[in-house]
Amino acid sequence: MANVAVVGSQWGDEGKGKIVDWLSSRADVVVRFQGGHNAGHTLVINGVVYKLSLLPSGVVRPGKLSVIGNGVVVDPWALLREIEAIKAQGVEITPDSLIVAENCPLILPLHSTVDKAREEARGANRIGTTGRGIGPAYEDKVARRAIRLCDLADEALLGEKVDQLLFHHNALLRGLGAAELDKAELMAQLHEVAPKILPYAAVVWERLDEARRQGKRILFEGAQGAMLDVDHGTYPFVTSSNTVAGNAAAGSGMGPGAVGHVLGITKAYTTRVGSGPFPTELLDETGDLIGQRGREFGTVTGRKRRCGWFDAVLVRQAIKTGGITGIALTKLDVLDGFQELKVCTGYRYKGEIIHHLPAAQTAQAEVEPVYESFEGWSESTQGARSWAELPATAIKYIRRIEELIEAPVTLLSTSPERDDTILVKDPFED
Ligand code: GDP
Ligand code: IMO
Ligand code: MG
Repeated sequence: MANVAVVGSQWGDEGKGKIVDWLSSRADVVVRFQGGHNAGHTLVINGVVYKLSLLPSGVVRPGKLSVIGNGVVVDPWALLREIEAIKAQGVEITPDSLIVAENCPLILPLHSTVDKAREEARGANRIGTTGRGIGPAYEDKVARRAIRLCDLADEALLGEKVDQLLFHHNALLRGLGAAELDKAELMAQLHEVAPKILPYAAVVWERLDEARRQGKRILFEGAQGAMLDVDHGTYPFVTSSNTVAGNAAAGSGMGPGAVGHVLGITKAYTTRVGSGPFPTELLDETGDLIGQRGREFGTVTGRKRRCGWFDAVLVRQAIKTGGITGIALTKLDVLDGFQELKVCTGYRYKGEIIHHLPAAQTAQAEVEPVYESFEGWSESTQGARSWAELPATAIKYIRRIEELIEAPVTLLSTSPERDDTILVKDPFED
């Protein structure tokens, strides 16, 4: 019996939340291991919509343990707001059902201020971040000056750590001619939030080890996607963490052997929010139509997502760099009714055909997609719950994708609803 890591194989918003929620019926523990509240994961259960940013997508199922691992950057105010919002939808969340690693670095109000100010200063070169302070919080973590969840319980040390943190940030703000941060204000904010968030703090690595020894099934939930990975993505137009499944172990406090099947969530076409290269982007009516039919608006920022054809080169690269063993193909229904579909099978670059996305920024912007065309289908696949309900042309599309990306489709999703999901092969049975 294997544990499963669910990761995005494109630029995020592939439908990870829906698939994690569906798979969590077969799991005991669901663990977030990276990212923060830049993620927006949508679940639809009997018509009721749940929007999650920090909470693992197993949270709506009673009896499951939800875990926020040490690799996540946690904004305690955002987490508490999200807990309240989900509770208001009738979901019970207590320190028995939700635990947060005591060694999580915190996102503080200053991080989102810095994030937004820097984006503004970049002008046309902006990354298009979610403005949630993710990058600046990870920078402070790596620079060894972050305030961590456990620090909230250590009053004496907290003051010292805040001094060090502000020493750094105020030097920069002075340089920019901006207002400096006030220690007393930040300390007051931290004092206010500490008693509310500390009850969720736990020794996560130990709880996960216990779960593993008891034979419990662990589901790791990635945020963002392979092309937003800080190493493997379209750098610098990426997020500030490793989004690949390799980080599930480090970001939760388990060994690499804890991750079994790596399920890459993959949209049947491609979308991206924010700036950066996107070889198969469609800046025409077809792109608009995909966006309308797929309701491609960001969960977190409400921004319109850029849309384009399926890019098999990118997904294959995500599969290889991230160790993806099978994919869940989502939003197939969005392609219903298109007369012709296209899939990118290679890039034209400097007169040659290549089958990978080069790392260099200029090359990434210059590659041109080479397409293979497919006959579409007029039948509806929306809500299909068995392979037999799919038109032959849709099956042909799926089979060719499997060939091109060199990985099998193990799950298929045909609507936002939890149960409109076709299981081809159980990832826990690997
Ligand atoms: P995530 O960030 O990967 O969890 O994905 P998001 O939740 O941000 O975006 C995916 C969107 O597509 C959500 O609104 C889902 O409800 C929706 N969705 C998921 N799977 C399907 C599907 O198979 N068909 C359709 N039409 N919508 C889907
Ligand atoms: P989920 O988990 C799509 C994008 C932002 C921006 C870049 C950096 O819902 O798939 P950041 O705020 O992380 O510093 O922004 O990454 N981005 C996402 N795009 N889905 C996400 O998460 C994303 N999280 C960040 O739009 O381009
Ligand atoms: Mg999302």
